[in-house]
Amino acid sequence: MTMAHLSFDGCDAVALAKEYGTPLYVVSERMIRERLRELRDDFLGRYPNTYALYASKALQTLDVLRIVASEGIGLDVVSGGELFAASKAGFPMDRVYFHGNSKTDAEIRMAVEYGVGRVVVDNLHELETLNRAATALGRRARILFRVAPGVDSHTHEYISTGRLDSKFGIPLDRRVRDAYVGAALGMEGVELLGFHFHVGSQLLSNESHLKAIGVVCALMAELKADYGFETAELNLGGGYGVHYHDDERARPLSYFVDPMMAELTAACATANLRLPRVVIEPGRWVVGEAGLTLYTVGSKKVIPEVKTYVGVDGGLPDNPRPALYGAVYEASVADRHDAPRDEVVTVAGKCCESGDILIRDVALQSPEPGDVLAVFTTGAYNHSMASNYNRLPRPAMVLTDSGEHRLSVRRETFDDLIAREL
Ligand code: LLP
Repeated sequence: MTMAHLSFDGCDAVALAKEYGTPLYVVSERMIRERLRELRDDFLGRYPNTYALYASKALQTLDVLRIVASEGIGLDVVSGGELFAASKAGFPMDRVYFHGNSKTDAEIRMAVEYGVGRVVVDNLHELETLNRAATALGRRARILFRVAPGVDSHTHEYISTGRLDSKFGIPLDRRVRDAYVGAALGMEGVELLGFHFHVGSQLLSNESHLKAIGVVCALMAELKADYGFETAELNLGGGYGVHYHDDERARPLSYFVDPMMAELTAACATANLRLPRVVIEPGRWVVGEAGLTLYTVGSKKVIPEVKTYVGVDGGLPDNPRPALYGAVYEASVADRHDAPRDEVVTVAGKCCESGDILIRDVALQSPEPGDVLAVFTTGAYNHSMASNYNRLPRPAMVLTDSGEHRLSVRRETFDDLIAREL
């Protein structure tokens, strides 16, 4: 009896593993484009005076940048490196938002020289540096202030970012806030357009987004009363969760954006404020489900009455999320995708580290050495967070498009691993 291979975006996963080797990131261009179009249809097309960015920290390659640019969506970058790559990919700079809580002076100058669309300012030192850099070049940088709305979100502590006690954003305590706004309004080199918040990541409820909107609307009303300042732009961040495993329910984009727009519209009407331009910036939601990782099973160890370990040829260096956040993934033996899942195993990575476990106690199709194991939903925060721990070369990345496939990022070589060493 022949067993059905796992098919992903019309491509045979076992054949991809054979052709490109493992570990291999497989990312569907078609699925990314579908999400970007959903941003256009279900947000931009439905609400006037809105804009959408892709938070490129989730997955930044030149190909992904070109795909995003070609769909007319903007970009969130958070470092000089991400900005540099965006420029190399030919990304239109006026569509780029530059974020970060500790931008270096060099990065701030770079943002001004490149002429990014917005700098999202997080602290006073950055504001002053930006003002000097822009003035020196005879420019006026358009800025948003990142604020800490003081709302908690139900996600892993490491990816909850909107609390009062957070390294991100300006606290809304009047004493602090007034110092920032007052300073910005008096500067030649910056033009304050509005505010930004990002409450957390992998959120499956819209509750904290909605609370944050309430907080920011109160801020907008106060600043209008105190300074006559009208907020022209509001960036509501990203954070929309995706499907990792069956106990989680991913929500459509509309579940987040529709109530946010309703809440914002109502609050502005009540406070007699003009509805600002609204920007959103999902990362994971655009690319997470568009990716999977293929591994080759290298070992199987049965510890009687305890556990069966299945070792693969990657792990923590290509996917640190289980170790960092306790993230839970689903997987399948790609060689026998339709076979019964009759064996519970723990999938271990190959690092010298007991914590390098990719998936605990997962029912799989009796994986054996030589099988190809597919781990799903690895499009976001895998390639972008990969390391070379234990001198493992980082995987290659293949882009698929309805049955077609091509190499997008080549596999690291052993020579690459020592290339920087003098
Ligand atoms: N905007 C800002 C300012 C952000 O800091 C982030 C993510 C996003 C947008 C996009 O968030 P998303 O839509 O992707 O949830 N490494 C972690 C996630 C860290 C997210 C950091 N900021 C993980 O693997 O879960």
